[in-house]
Amino acid sequence: MEQLLKQIAAYKSEIEVTNISDATQVEEFRIKWLGTKGIVKAMMSEMKNVVPEQKKEAGQVLNEFKLFVESKFEIFKSSIETQQGSNVNVLDLSLPGDEVLIGSRHPVTLMRNRIVSIFQRLGFAVAEGPEIEDDWHNFGALNLPEHHPARDMQDTFYVQQNPDWVLRTHTSSVQIREMEKGKLPIRMLMPGRVYRNETVSARSHCFFHQVEGLYIDENVSFADLKQTLYFFVKEMYGKDVKVRFRPSYFPFTEPSAEMDVSCFICGGSGCNICKKTGWVEILGCGMVHPNVLSNCNIDPNKYTGFAFGMGIERPAMLKYGINDIRLFSENDVRFLKQFSSSI
Ligand code: PHE
Repeated sequence: MEQLLKQIAAYKSEIEVTNISDATQVEEFRIKWLGTKGIVKAMMSEMKNVVPEQKKEAGQVLNEFKLFVESKFEIFKSSIETQQGSNVNVLDLSLPGDEVLIGSRHPVTLMRNRIVSIFQRLGFAVAEGPEIEDDWHNFGALNLPEHHPARDMQDTFYVQQNPDWVLRTHTSSVQIREMEKGKLPIRMLMPGRVYRNETVSARSHCFFHQVEGLYIDENVSFADLKQTLYFFVKEMYGKDVKVRFRPSYFPFTEPSAEMDVSCFICGGSGCNICKKTGWVEILGCGMVHPNVLSNCNIDPNKYTGFAFGMGIERPAMLKYGINDIRLFSENDVRFLKQFSSSI
């Protein structure tokens, strides 16, 4: 044991006076002391000759020596690397920083948020529901019984495994889910993705996004519907924009209407966007049909309500000057990053 300590002391002083001035000497140092045929390895293998009573102490001493050599080696190595300027561990504060790429919101999300925030100011809350719906929520409860001709208005994708399932064709299905909860009054917005079997072109796609709205309480009238939508249009398109309602048909509302705004591109004088009519159609709406209320166990003699629904892509295309609806779903970063600073 004593001999071992002496030997280590001698090695230590040898190492202390070692001078290293280049990478070759660092490598030589490594081979001599830490290599597979190096001194440290050799000493370790001597352990087997140590008497059992001293094994523990000798092991500790040797380990400590090994750590000593390794730390010396690290010091030599990094001092040479610093000299050569190649040490990755050295912090060079003059280097330019890494650019942090912040993502951008999708234009559909931007438009959705814009629409939602306007209605939120009127007290509407947001509700979401499943994109794969059963027939009842997408059609039946909405006063579209089986074989109703109006089902053809919405070219539906059916799910092969289960004939009762469809990809929802509108977020009106979420209105049903809200009404079924039985908590009144309801003042909800239903934004989400919907699917229709339409030929994909620059103007239409087989999936797109909608925001629908629903307001149910006692004494809700068509006047409330109009006031709510007037407020929306003023906030969304500016106070000079004119509004008109045209009678329309939806099985789930009675009476039903479509709402146009005076073309905010040409100001009403006629352009390609409004097809020279001066008007742009932006949504469908109406008073919730009494059958729909009864289907959801709401008493139509006590409660009335209005509903409306609009697409998101079209207003987004108009606002951002996008001329092809397919761009929204192609995930081309060159397209998407253009919206990083939009609100
Ligand atoms: N669900 C209708 C559609 O997708 C829109 C709508 C909603 C119309 C509510 C009237 C009332 O076309």
